[in-house]
Amino acid sequence: MSFQFGEVVDLTKITDHRGNLTFVEALTHVPFKIKRVYYLYDVPGGADRGGHAHKELQQLMIAVSGSFDVTLDDGKQKQTVHLNRPYQGLFVGQMTWREMSNFSSGSVCLVLASTEYDESDYYRDYDEFLAALSTR
Ligand code: TYD
Repeated sequence: MSFQFGEVVDLTKITDHRGNLTFVEALTHVPFKIKRVYYLYDVPGGADRGGHAHKELQQLMIAVSGSFDVTLDDGKQKQTVHLNRPYQGLFVGQMTWREMSNFSSGSVCLVLASTEYDESDYYRDYDEFLAALSTR
């Protein structure tokens, strides 16, 4: 399983008159074991999230409700993806700067993560991130 930079993948959608269902299985739909799940919600209009990159962390981001934009930057290419379907996921690999913006009212950003939270895995300074990329 490999993902292109900024690729949005379609997850399975089980359509049912009682409501739809989508699932994600570790190592089948994401190329990692899921160690952590977190979600962003109650994001005020106009607020931005993200603004960091990670040395090791890989993630799948899903707009389980509403919509938002994710801008990805790996130092070579930059792409903005609009997420607005609960059956679609955006893979965010290692060493990728991400910024999330334009959250719709009531939106929820679900993140499946390959590692537990570790502040030392973060680059929170963009220039430091670029410098680290150039030494790789
Ligand atoms: P951060 O990753 O900067 O949020 P986002 O990228 O979504 O804007 O995290 C915000 C704060 O929450 C920061 O103080 C770290 C803390 N945090 C945890 O304690 N555990 C976690 O799993 C995450 C994702 C964040």
